Amino acid sequence: LRDDFGPFDGESWINCAMQGPLPRVAIRALNEAVSLKIKPSTLDDSMFYSVPRKLKDALGRLLNVSPEEIVIGNSASYGLHLLANGIPWERGDEVLLVEGDFAADIMPWQGLQSEGVKTRFVRSSNHMPDAEELERSITEDTRVFCTTWVHSYTGHSIDLEGVSDVCREMGVKLVLNGSQAIGYKALDLSRMKVDAVTSGGYKWLCGPYGTGFCWIEPGFLERLDYNQAYWLAMQGEGGLDEAKTGIVENLGAMKYDVFGTASFHNVMPWTASVEYLLSKGLPSIGRHDQELMGLMIEGIDTERYEIISPAESKESSIFVIEHRRGNTREIYNRVISNGFHVSLRYDRIRISPHLYNTVDEVLSLVELLNKFS
Ligand SMILES: Cc1ncc(COP(=O)(O)O)c(C=O)c1O
Repeated sequence: LRDDFGPFDGESWINCAMQGPLPRVAIRALNEAVSLKIKPSTLDDSMFYSVPRKLKDALGRLLNVSPEEIVIGNSASYGLHLLANGIPWERGDEVLLVEGDFAADIMPWQGLQSEGVKTRFVRSSNHMPDAEELERSITEDTRVFCTTWVHSYTGHSIDLEGVSDVCREMGVKLVLNGSQAIGYKALDLSRMKVDAVTSGGYKWLCGPYGTGFCWIEPGFLERLDYNQAYWLAMQGEGGLDEAKTGIVENLGAMKYDVFGTASFHNVMPWTASVEYLLSKGLPSIGRHDQELMGLMIEGIDTERYEIISPAESKESSIFVIEHRRGNTREIYNRVISNGFHVSLRYDRIRISPHLYNTVDEVLSLVELLNKFS
């Protein structure tokens, strides 16, 4: 699949946890969007509806839900803010968060303090809280548990089935941030009981920066109390020559699509990326990513490096290591200067390969890392 991406000019981008590159089909779609803007006479009014609809179709297939249930966002944060600002809170309500989680999962809820909504952190003895740790932390005030699926800095996953069962039994809404998982892990929303999922589109889903989506269980979505009345969402598909000014009720998820929903330069290439991933099949993409993860786990010299990410499982696509003698930053700089693009996070090296990475480049990176004593 390497040839479907790039060119990378001889360098290795093994940093999908930061940004996924656009596949070539998406670059073609982006060029098409640019052509529409160069010559706007080619942009038909109907495209304001057909372009987002096509994205929703693709995301609906990805998540196994009806396309009408998808909210188009521009980030993971978009959906989290929608929920934080839309859930009808009562003073004293509490949101449980994961200690050490990514900032985007924490801040939207902390902003509710003035409404009397508390936030509290679940601590874990092992990177991510398990079902029991969550259960022990829930109180009668807890309304929401918000967590990342795969942790950005450690690669550890939440036990989704376990926490989902606890949340359901205890009447707590489960809000999941799938930004570091969806694209190499499949999420089948017809089977997995979560109340809301949000994700950026520019990492494992290989979309442009400024893309994202949110799915909110329809009954939950209906109970949100949030004033969003985007004029374009109210028009139906009847053309733009005489815009309606009256609020249309019962728009469903569409009510909450981000403004500028058709955002051609982002939506057209992202749709092409998601369709491309679907055509390759998430299970086979996942197998490829796991093969690369297995090579790193087996190949890295554990006398030199401590593996922070799961070492006993290949399921995560985020490999995190720390040099035992503490010169990780210097090693990172040398890795970069050798043309391997990875991340340095909290003084650890984070390596995150995806479908465009090859066995050879991962083996070469491991060989290079093992040279630093
Ligand atoms: C788990 C997680 N959530 C969210 C983000 C980014 O948030 P947003 O898409 O809202 O900018 C990142 C990484 O940048 C992340 O790792």
